[in-house]
Amino acid sequence: MNKHTPASESIFRTSLLEEADGPARNASDNPTMGEIIAKRFSRRDLLKGALAVSAISATVAPLALISADKARAGGTGSAFSFPEVAAGVDENHHVAEGYDADVLLRWGDPLFPDAPEFDPTAQTAESQRRQFGYNNDYVGYIPLPDAEDPAAHGLLVVNHEYTNEHLMFPGIVTIADGKPQVAPADQKRVDIEMAAHGGTVAEIRRVDGKWQLVKDSSYNRRITADTEMEVTGPAAGHERLRTGADATGTRVLGTVNNCAGGVTPWGTYIMAEENFHGYFMGELPADHPEATNYERLGVPDATYEWGKFYDRFDVSKEPNEPNRFGWIVEVDPFDPNSTPKKRTALGRTKHEGAESIVSRDGRVVFYLGDDERFDYVYKFVTAGRYNPDDRAANMDLLDEGTLYVARFDEDGSMEWLPLIHGEGPLTAENGFESQADVVIETRRAADLLGATKMDRPEDVEPNAVNGRVYVMLTNNTRRSEEDVDAANPRAKNAFGHIIEIAETDGDFAATTGKWEVLLQCGDPSIAEVGATFTTETTKDGWFGMPDNCAIDAAGRLWVSTDGNNPSATGRTDGLWAVDTEGDARATSKLFYRVPVGAELCGPVFTPDDQSLFVAVQHPGDGGDDWEPFGRPSYYEDLSTRWPDFQDDIPVRPAVVAITKQGGGKIGV
Ligand code: FEO
Ligand code: CA
Ligand code: CA
Ligand code: CA
Repeated sequence: MNKHTPASESIFRTSLLEEADGPARNASDNPTMGEIIAKRFSRRDLLKGALAVSAISATVAPLALISADKARAGGTGSAFSFPEVAAGVDENHHVAEGYDADVLLRWGDPLFPDAPEFDPTAQTAESQRRQFGYNNDYVGYIPLPDAEDPAAHGLLVVNHEYTNEHLMFPGIVTIADGKPQVAPADQKRVDIEMAAHGGTVAEIRRVDGKWQLVKDSSYNRRITADTEMEVTGPAAGHERLRTGADATGTRVLGTVNNCAGGVTPWGTYIMAEENFHGYFMGELPADHPEATNYERLGVPDATYEWGKFYDRFDVSKEPNEPNRFGWIVEVDPFDPNSTPKKRTALGRTKHEGAESIVSRDGRVVFYLGDDERFDYVYKFVTAGRYNPDDRAANMDLLDEGTLYVARFDEDGSMEWLPLIHGEGPLTAENGFESQADVVIETRRAADLLGATKMDRPEDVEPNAVNGRVYVMLTNNTRRSEEDVDAANPRAKNAFGHIIEIAETDGDFAATTGKWEVLLQCGDPSIAEVGATFTTETTKDGWFGMPDNCAIDAAGRLWVSTDGNNPSATGRTDGLWAVDTEGDARATSKLFYRVPVGAELCGPVFTPDDQSLFVAVQHPGDGGDDWEPFGRPSYYEDLSTRWPDFQDDIPVRPAVVAITKQGGGKIGV
């Protein structure tokens, strides 16, 4: 999701935030034509000598220069083949011709045989705890070990990042002076909100070509903001994590704002805690020792009103509770009674996700984005080695290892800087008494190490096929000309970019590497934007605001977005196929798009590339800037009622299963 803003600013959190980071099509302080030309050429183009032609008069469009260069190189040779979807905005979702996009799980769908049917007018926390949660974000697919066809029978693990009260609850929005206002929360509503957060584990199988929920599965599980969790790793039991309810500093209730995530090589489910600051209210006592720590993370933000009813979300009553959030959570989906673990060794930030890969010596490498303007890219390398023959031996690999933060240098090299207590500036002199302090204040530790401030790092994903790593940087309109650096090359970066990392010797555990900008996003027909899609990319094929990504079994990159809308790019969010190899590199093509108001999350493929799951998040959250609707969207007056399109059923976030008609691999 986009950043939360305080409740006092707007009830429409995501829309407001998208606006806050929204692009201007014609920025007033445009770069010079020379700068634009320079920026349009990636280093790869420079290496190919393309800039030799840049002395051509500025009256020649930069796009034409690239076009000529690509033409000389002999065309594109895209790795993808499918009929492109037309970009646009309407009430429905759209997938490429020849494919089916079937809704698999919607908010409120019963997950157990005894779970109540969805009734939005009579929702209770008890029902919600037995039903699919709200705002599906990360989606992972874990084959069942005894499945006849592992690509047709498995566990779907899904994060429920946050709740949109104005879309979920009837009768709470009033319009005053043309502006919508949400009524203050009562405890019943807060309890439903808490039950709609967290995650879902659901057994699914493909029957006659169509995916369906196995409702009576013993694996099905809901994790919520109340589920008991254990804290492990360097910060476990530390006094900064102790509260009135937990003197041990090791037992936490729940997880919140689980954005993207991951599936580990040993088949556990990772839930990343992202914008946890929004769940805390109240004021810290004056001169509280956590003041600096909390300020760096924006705690408290009071987006939600949970602290009115639960002391742990009020920092004036439980000042240490925020130290118990902002972690990577690991869940064993094969044991529905297992206690999820908050793995503190991976640091405490606004974690976007944690995708992993086994390095060549067997250590496991997790890539982590900290999604805030000017925050960092991290990776964690386990101390122990993955044992493919002994699952139990891998279950605590995430408790020991080294956390690194990335410094991207101007010459295209990079270094992973270790966050180790006692090394460099991470000493008692700077307030780090132990590794617990280092992980609790990961951001401050990374500041001291001189990490590179990035344009909102979201998904970071290793590619097992080509050996490289892809970093989605969603946008950062607050970057000034003075702040520009090689890895964040655009001021007022409204549309984001994608960086490609090649670790030294192709070793994912390496502490150095090389990087380049794969793609600067935005409309390539507007020169000032500085987008670098190839000219093979059509008017439908470009996008802004890359957020999540998936790499299929063939090693092809698929990018989903958060923030495309009528005013930003004249199109909804969606899933784009992005070439990374050969002359087609940086060519993009639209495969699927979401209904008005939604963002697209969680793309993931089954191991055979024949099924693709995507998460349509916050559909209907917006409509003001979509001309056919042109007003705020809320429960009683929605810009879309996707996916049911029934007058008495509100819009519902949902996971969609995409398959090829007649079978076969996707995008081939
Ligand atoms: Fe929840 Fe960074 O998106
Ligand atoms: Ca995201
Ligand atoms: Ca986002
Ligand atoms: Ca991903």
